[in-house]
Amino acid sequence: MTTTYVPRQREWSLVELFEGITAADVTCSKQDLRAAEPRLWIDLAAEWDARLLEAHILGADREFSPEFYAFLKGWAADEERHTEGLLRLYSLVTGEPEDAVLSRLRARAGDFSSVEPLLAGEFEVLILLAYDEAMSTAAYRDDIPFYRSLGPASFGRLLRELKNDEAMHYRNAVELLVLAHSDRVDDVPGEVERVVQFDKAQEEYRATFVLDHATDQFDGAEMERVGRSVVRAVQRRMRGQLDR
Ligand SMILES: [Fe+2]
Ligand SMILES: [Fe+2]
Repeated sequence: MTTTYVPRQREWSLVELFEGITAADVTCSKQDLRAAEPRLWIDLAAEWDARLLEAHILGADREFSPEFYAFLKGWAADEERHTEGLLRLYSLVTGEPEDAVLSRLRARAGDFSSVEPLLAGEFEVLILLAYDEAMSTAAYRDDIPFYRSLGPASFGRLLRELKNDEAMHYRNAVELLVLAHSDRVDDVPGEVERVVQFDKAQEEYRATFVLDHATDQFDGAEMERVGRSVVRAVQRRMRGQLDR
């Protein structure tokens, strides 16, 4: 690879966001709270599961490029911060101590057997993550009013930071695809389609971080739409790279 690749990370502070916020600032009703809890848990657990995916990728000798491992490291650090933020928020809203929530998270185990075919090589993993991060960006964008409705304005701001980080992860994945895998420009539509079909068909999310959309607000049409926009963006950028 001729061009150096440095994944980008956004600067923002959890400490600043949560400064002065206490459980007393959570103003939603007990009833709303009960309804909100499963939704908050799904988001928190999915962020936690990033470390399970990271360990799974690092655990096998996949011989990916140093640039890929740089991408993964920045990504994992961001997802850890997302976990920390959503853990604080979850604890403030539900009253369950952070330690207790953490021990529930630590008990999670990923089952990667069904997604393993999508992790065959660096190109495939980057396509998978590009699509998944594009979906997460859209999901968090939709979630902002719900989080804001729980009380503190900073809950809405946290979601905005998460959304913008997920968009950056998408960009970083696309960037590396373009720099290192433009020779596979013609394989992009087929690989994205494989991921979308998998996402649509997956009935049960197994703590794999990726493709948890069957359980939330998205239908198949939204997955197809996001898939098409990923194909367009990646192919356009790759063709630009090849013309140089
Ligand atoms: Fe995240
Ligand atoms: Fe992400």
